[in-house]
Amino acid sequence: MKKKILITGGAGFIGSHVVRLFVNTYPEYDIFNLDSLTYAGNLENLSDIDKSDNYTFLKGDITNEEYIESIFKEYRFDSVVHLAAESHVDRSITDPLSFAKTNILGSMVLLNSFKNLWQNNWNDKLFYHVSTDEVYGTLGETGLFTETTPYDPNSPYSASKASSDHFVRAYGETYGLPYVISNCSNNYGANQFPEKLIPLFINNIINNKALPVYGNGKYTRDWLYVVDHAIAIDLVFHKGKNKETYNIGGFNEWQNIDLIKLLCVQMNQKLGRSEGESEKLITYVKDRPGHDLRYAIDASKINKELGWKPSVTFEQGLSKTIDWYLNNKEWMQSIVNGDYKNYYEKQYK
Ligand code: NAD
Ligand code: TYD
Repeated sequence: MKKKILITGGAGFIGSHVVRLFVNTYPEYDIFNLDSLTYAGNLENLSDIDKSDNYTFLKGDITNEEYIESIFKEYRFDSVVHLAAESHVDRSITDPLSFAKTNILGSMVLLNSFKNLWQNNWNDKLFYHVSTDEVYGTLGETGLFTETTPYDPNSPYSASKASSDHFVRAYGETYGLPYVISNCSNNYGANQFPEKLIPLFINNIINNKALPVYGNGKYTRDWLYVVDHAIAIDLVFHKGKNKETYNIGGFNEWQNIDLIKLLCVQMNQKLGRSEGESEKLITYVKDRPGHDLRYAIDASKINKELGWKPSVTFEQGLSKTIDWYLNNKEWMQSIVNGDYKNYYEKQYK
């Protein structure tokens, strides 16, 4: 019997890279992609693999208990790689309840259906929760998040992800459900929805629109190329130890303003603009409420135990990312033609 793996949120940014990697690497698995196709889900992200024999798309909502129970009964998934979530901090500030619903309740519905299906017959089963470093809250100028850093989330987004991490652990302790969790830093790369910093700024630079820098621009993030995150997820899925957490990060901290200047330099070159031209678009705007100062991951556990490290430098990854957006303008166009316009006007009015 082929192993059946349910990947949730596979039509989104990171999920689509994970689905592609699993479908292409493991013909011996049947990969099911469950996604409700919210504004962030886009089946175009998977157009290169969606005809593969070992791939099935299921359109459905993780908060719909009846539906989720029914597909677990029908397909009997051996493992779940759970990425489906509301993922943008700014949206969590304007609409916190939908984050509680999807990220907390949706995760519980999946955990519950997995538990009900296998009823303690846990041999070779796994629930993998893909989480974020934002659950640890904010760092000051120094220090790194390790796997034992206490949870201290500050935004409705990070609070909802922290809560779902806790429920995964609780199902492990209470029902013996085998699990792993990984907490990753900020991702960037192809197919990221242009609400997040890098794709939003790439799109604005192309269109000569203002680059809205929150606050003083001195906030720091640790950036990881999305393909390297997908490779890490594959490793944790296959080699991670039951009940363990793995921090995944790029060893790659940037203050927002320095990152934005690097982006402008690379874009000036690629667009044949003169030095300093895109930089003129930089505009300081009102800060995000509860804005976390700094995230930085100590990824030495996954490095030492599973042999993972990022495969590209930030300059290389950023260059590949810009090239992807320049070569896939119709992908961006189909997004900005839709509801995005309303979102953008409300967020940056
Ligand atoms: P995304 O917003 O691009 O994609 C989320 C996907 O989940 C979309 O395809 C959407 O349609 C789907 N989805 C949302 N609600 C759903 C529901 N109720 N039922 C079924 N599907 C639903 O997100 P992303 O950036 O790819 O993040 C994926 C996961 O990785 C999330 O769990 C996020 O918390 C985590 N994560 C993201 C980052 C990052 O930098 N983007 C970093 C660390 C961890
Ligand atoms: P984002 O990509 O939203 O990721 P996160 O909030 O999960 O880290 O933002 C990355 C950083 O960029 C964060 O410090 C907020 C900042 N930012 C801006 O300055 N302007 C923007 O328009 C956006 C979307 C983000």
